[in-house]
Amino acid sequence: MDDARARTGSGPGEPVAHDSAALHVAGTALYIDDLPVPEGTLAAWCVPSPKAHARIVSIDLSAARAAPGVAAVIAAGDVPGRNDVGPIFKGEPFLAENVVEYIGQPVVAIAAESVAQARAAGRLVRIVYEDLPAILTIEDALAKGSFVAKPYVMQRGDAPAALARAPRRLKGTFRNGAQDHFYLEGHIALAVPQEADGMAVWSSTQHPTEVQKMVARALDLPASAVTCEVRRMGGGFGGKETQPAIIACIAAVLARHAGRPVKYRLDRDDDFMITGKRHDFLVRYDVGFDEAGRLLALDIAFAARAGHVADLSTSIVERALFHAANAYHVPDMRAVGHACKTHTQSNTAFRGFGGPQGVLAAEHVIDRVARAVGRDPLDVRRLNFFGASPRDETHYGQRTTDFVADRIVSELAADVGYEQRRRAIDAFNAASPILKKGMALTPVMFGVSFTAIQFNQAGALVHVYTDGSIALNHAGTEMGQGLHTKVRQIVAGEFGVPDATVRIAATNTARVPNTSATAASAGSDMNGKAAQAAARAIKARIADFLAGEYRTSVDEVGFAAGEVRIGAQRLPFRDAVQKAYAARVQLSATGFYSTPKVHFDRARAWGRPFYYFAYGAAYAEATIDTLTGEYAIDRVELLHDVGRSLNPAIDLGQVEGAFVQGLGWLTSEEIVFDAGGRLTTHAPSTYKIPVARDLPRDFRARLWTGGENREDAIYRSKAVGEPPLMLATSVFLALQDAVEAAVPGKGAQIDAPATPERVLMAIEAAR
Ligand code: MTE
Ligand code: HPA
Ligand code: MOS
Repeated sequence: MDDARARTGSGPGEPVAHDSAALHVAGTALYIDDLPVPEGTLAAWCVPSPKAHARIVSIDLSAARAAPGVAAVIAAGDVPGRNDVGPIFKGEPFLAENVVEYIGQPVVAIAAESVAQARAAGRLVRIVYEDLPAILTIEDALAKGSFVAKPYVMQRGDAPAALARAPRRLKGTFRNGAQDHFYLEGHIALAVPQEADGMAVWSSTQHPTEVQKMVARALDLPASAVTCEVRRMGGGFGGKETQPAIIACIAAVLARHAGRPVKYRLDRDDDFMITGKRHDFLVRYDVGFDEAGRLLALDIAFAARAGHVADLSTSIVERALFHAANAYHVPDMRAVGHACKTHTQSNTAFRGFGGPQGVLAAEHVIDRVARAVGRDPLDVRRLNFFGASPRDETHYGQRTTDFVADRIVSELAADVGYEQRRRAIDAFNAASPILKKGMALTPVMFGVSFTAIQFNQAGALVHVYTDGSIALNHAGTEMGQGLHTKVRQIVAGEFGVPDATVRIAATNTARVPNTSATAASAGSDMNGKAAQAAARAIKARIADFLAGEYRTSVDEVGFAAGEVRIGAQRLPFRDAVQKAYAARVQLSATGFYSTPKVHFDRARAWGRPFYYFAYGAAYAEATIDTLTGEYAIDRVELLHDVGRSLNPAIDLGQVEGAFVQGLGWLTSEEIVFDAGGRLTTHAPSTYKIPVARDLPRDFRARLWTGGENREDAIYRSKAVGEPPLMLATSVFLALQDAVEAAVPGKGAQIDAPATPERVLMAIEAAR
């Protein structure tokens, strides 16, 4: 009964458009701020901390409470339940309690008839602070032992001993910058009180269950009294994995106090000032190698700016450690991770979840090694690749039997004509004193699964109505990545009906419970399988029933092309459904999936945390002006492995989009604090994300056709959301290569982001 790949012009594998594409273009896709609100809905605003670190001596809310239009004014003491949104550790308040720990932290929340009135009332709040010393940098945190958790170590073999034996050795320090998510839709929540103390919350969140749980905790309610719903986000990028709970809890507590609905929407500046970003890292390494550039030992320490609380920082640092060797085999390796507590916004998940910081560091190190031994970096990369040999394993014990980065790199190198381009660039540089060109070809190897094993589960709920239409609910959320489109293709494929027959419902905790965040790129893998299971359960019931009616076996029943085939007979899908309904066959089912094979012993830092790896490679070429540091990205070519694509159009969009977001992180986006700890880059006027003009002049991207997932992932596809972000490493190292050409043999180094200023300073410092 398995004609899943129906010939309906839709279904899995087809390059169908995003299900909301037309709505996006027409401006009719509904985001939370577009939903009609109940009468009497209030607007919220929070009084921010003006101090990076201070004790709250007193708060006087009386004048604010008496201000025009004000319905509720609350501080930490007014939270009926727990004032805590910590996802892993306890003690992460959504309203400052006793102390403030970063500039911008919400201290007092106000609900009023309008945002203007809430802001005006906010100016009447009197807070007395007593300054405390602030820790603002990673270095300062390391020096003072200021961490949000204990350091974490991952190792295989004996790195210090192997380093002592190594013929060549190199030590260094490398930094990467932070990055703001800059989702087009900022954080927002709408909380609407329900009867009998219940609360309904609409939240722009990747993790409705987390919002439900935290709001319930804040209101001292059972989870069953709270629902959370989201139809779509205008981008999440990891920024909406945990932090929507802050916004939702503030809205919900205000709504409880006011007894009226409250909408809390952050404007761009508030979003920048209140919420966390990608972690900036300071990396120190000691690498041992031989004259050929073969890696023998690596001792590498990562220190991340966690901000004032842990949030997900420990998991993010852990993922950086997992990716600290990228696609390379290092026989003896030790990776240590520190999550530094600083008095700044709490940094959080961001596309790649620490992986990009690990990969970038690994690629920086191998680039240094190549220069030290005087070989082309690509040759040194190839020399050190993992193999698909059953003996090869990572420094955390996972076998690399699905390794294909070598094949992808070879195909891309041949495609771009790597050797010729190297010769052409050398010739250009020899003849050009001011402008210098550089190139790089880098691989990506990204582990797919939640590294906290319990999150690798998903659920779905599918209804078939008597008119043959289908409603699809699943645990995942839509943030532009096309998850709903893909899961719909899968369900439509199962029933052998056109995609349009399947309607996607908003994600709602009342329909599918106990969900994981839509994160770790695992959305379509997990929800696709769960929805498939639900669809198959309904199909099996219909097939059973029809086989009985037509006196044949269930194997003779198939679903394809809008019809149900029973032996030689055919029924329109709708007629089959009506017959089944009349015979009282259940036409609704839940589905569940838990990712097989993954396990990880956190105490030993050993196991198989990833179901499989996703691979890719990128070639980049850049020209720098050595007098100004300005540069142009001349050419980029991407080749990325998505297994057997569920939807090549969406996957290619993800590859291009992720690359460009990585490009921003590594080139123009810079998060800057002043000496007092105030974020000075909190709007597009000072924070530069890439726009169309910043794309490489010659930009090519394609999906690797050589691949299919060796594991039984949905339709043998591979996750695509995050891995291609790391393809931008190629651009960063092409710029590094051009700097090397400008000041050869001086060891000039750029840290990320490679802004024109940094490029110029690296050259000037070496001269
Ligand atoms: N693509 C768009 N357009 N918008 C987003 O917010 N988030 C990324 C990626 N692609 C994102 C995106 C991140 S961080 C992740 S983890 C995945 O999508 C999540 O979705 P998936 O698991 O369905 O791929
Ligand atoms: N990736 C993304 N989000 C997560 C993870 C992960 O591995 N673990 C917990 N949240
Ligand atoms: Mo993505 S950082 O795992 O939400």
